[in-house]
Amino acid sequence: MSQRVCVADFEAQARTVLPKAVYDYYRSGADEQRTLHDNVEAFNRWCVVPRVLRDVSSVDMSVSVLGQRLSFPVCVASTAMQRMAHPDGEVATARACRAVGTGMMLSSWATSTIEEVGEAGGAPGGAPGGVLWLQLYIYKDRELSLSLVRRAEQAGYQAVFLTVDTPYLGRRWDDVRNRFKLPSHLSMSNFSAPSMAFSEGSYGADSGLAVYVAKAIDPTLSWEDVLWLKRNTRLPVILKGVLSVEDACQAVECGVDGILVSNHGARQLDGVPATLDVLEEVVRAVGGRCEVFLDGGVRRGTDVLKALALGAKAVFLGRAVLWGLACQGEEGVTEVLNLLREELRLAMALAGCRSLAEVTKALLRRRDFSRL
Ligand code: FNR
Repeated sequence: MSQRVCVADFEAQARTVLPKAVYDYYRSGADEQRTLHDNVEAFNRWCVVPRVLRDVSSVDMSVSVLGQRLSFPVCVASTAMQRMAHPDGEVATARACRAVGTGMMLSSWATSTIEEVGEAGGAPGGAPGGVLWLQLYIYKDRELSLSLVRRAEQAGYQAVFLTVDTPYLGRRWDDVRNRFKLPSHLSMSNFSAPSMAFSEGSYGADSGLAVYVAKAIDPTLSWEDVLWLKRNTRLPVILKGVLSVEDACQAVECGVDGILVSNHGARQLDGVPATLDVLEEVVRAVGGRCEVFLDGGVRRGTDVLKALALGAKAVFLGRAVLWGLACQGEEGVTEVLNLLREELRLAMALAGCRSLAEVTKALLRRRDFSRL
């Protein structure tokens, strides 16, 4: 096994161990994947102008996210069907998050149950440091959706991230070509009926997941449903998949507890902005009325630094975690999270920041405008 020194090394190794259709599913963006590239590229449009002579021998990266203390502001985004990457799947990811003291968002489409991840991830009663959140898709069957929320509440999860960018599945060409479906030994473990568990035999000549979504997920989702969800849970509700200032304002008016600026890892509508490019305007519009987070394209500690400087409270990692999981299960995810933590620590120290409070827009210059 060659040494892994950056997230790109994990992806390169993961590619060698994963079946092609699985790697393609994890890696792909929608359509021509313009936004997929832009999510990553957007971070390079900003330079960091460091401050010096500030005694950076000690750097405090701890942060409060949705009322929970995390050891650093990098959390794990919901990515579906993690047992395709490693036999321990979401359970391994939850253990790794607990070990490093950060939060994990569990997908509605997990291949592990809410309860087994709750046990592994250290919800109340478990070891300290573990924070779990449920990512929710709203099904046409509302009771089914609510049953996921109830189970998460019972299992000690601390918030619900409602995904609002997926009334239908984006068109991911490789998944169509591969006729993507779950391997037969796996299912979406939180559902018992095969039609809901994505474990039917055939989905025709399309991405099986796109067929599944069209059948099961409710495309009528609207602001009414955000209010409905809020009425039906005592947990904080965060909207995942907001890109516009108008939607961010409406979300605040609905009383949400947070907004995750996300384009679903560029897997839904191609041609939308990179998340970093809209973060600042969303943060400004929200004006501190709820917490704002970002995901999409985060691969390096300097990416985290830039997102925080533009106003994110914390960032979430999607694919980077899957690559760690594919390489080495729980240890691989732990390694990826520790890598990001140490990269962020070094980036903060070299930029002259001793705490997250010192990570502000004053550190950044837009590359186009940098002075010669
Ligand atoms: C996702 N994402 C996602 N989002 C969600 O709300 N529910 C889900 O089940 C999934 N599943 C999923 C699978 C895979 C393979 C990927 C890559 C992504 C989106 C995810 O939560 C997050 O928004 C992005 O992954 C962030 O972008 P990066 O870090 O992958 O660039």
